[in-house]
Amino acid sequence: MRIEYLDEVDSTNTYIRRYLEEGEDVIVCARRQTGGRGTKGRSFCSKEGGVYLSALTFYPDLPVSRAFRIMTHSAVAVCCTAKAFGADAQIKWPNDVFAAGRKLSGTLIENILSGDKVRCSVVGIGFNVNNDVSALGGIAVSLSELVGTVKTDDVRDELISNLLREDDFAEYLSFVRFLGKEITVVEGEKSFPAIARAISEDGRLIADTAAGRRTLSAAEISVRF
Ligand code: BTN
Repeated sequence: MRIEYLDEVDSTNTYIRRYLEEGEDVIVCARRQTGGRGTKGRSFCSKEGGVYLSALTFYPDLPVSRAFRIMTHSAVAVCCTAKAFGADAQIKWPNDVFAAGRKLSGTLIENILSGDKVRCSVVGIGFNVNNDVSALGGIAVSLSELVGTVKTDDVRDELISNLLREDDFAEYLSFVRFLGKEITVVEGEKSFPAIARAISEDGRLIADTAAGRRTLSAAEISVRF
C-alpha cells in the first residue's frame, strides 16, 4: 500500500484524485489542510494537531447497492482507533463518530461509479486529536481532551492499520448505541420524535414514529440523538 505524507494541502480528498487513473490503492495524509471539505458542501476546520487523511480504494466488483459497506468500514476503523487510545467512541448513524456526546471525527466519502458498480471510493477522515476544537462551540471534542496526552502520528498510524484490516457489519453495529432509544428525525422543515429500531445492511434506519414504522435514508433526512 502506497502511503503519502504531506505537511500541508488544500484537501486530501481533492489531492488524491490525481491517482484516479492509476488504479492502485493509496492513502494520503496531511498535517493540516487549507481547504478541508466536509459533508453537504461545508468546510472542515483542519488545524495542525488533527489527523486528516484520505484513502483511495478500488473495488473489482462492488454493486452500488452495497456501498454502505464503505461507510461502515471507515466508521469502525475510527471507533477502533479511539478505543485503542482509551476513548469510548460510538457511531452516530450513518458514519459520524462521537465520544462524550461530541463529534470526534467526520468522514467525507466520494464514490466514483461505473454503471451500477462502485469503481473506487475516496474516504476522507478528519479525526480530532490534539487540534483546538474550542471554536466549534462545544459540538466537537478531541481525543486528547478525553484521554490526555497522545501523539497525533500514533493515532494516524493506528487509524491506517485499522483501515487496512477487514471488519464486518456486526462490528459496525457494536459501536451503534442508539437503537431502542428516542431520536429526532429532521426531514426538510419538519422534525418529529421516533424510536430507532434497527439499521439495515444497505444503510437505512428503521424507526417507529407516531405515524407508524418508517425506513429512513441518510440521503433524505438527518437525525438528532
Ligand atoms: C464532515 O464531518 O462534514 C466530514 C469531514 C471530513 C473531513 C476530512 S479531513 C480529510 C479529508 N479531506 C477533506 O477535505 N475532507 C476530509
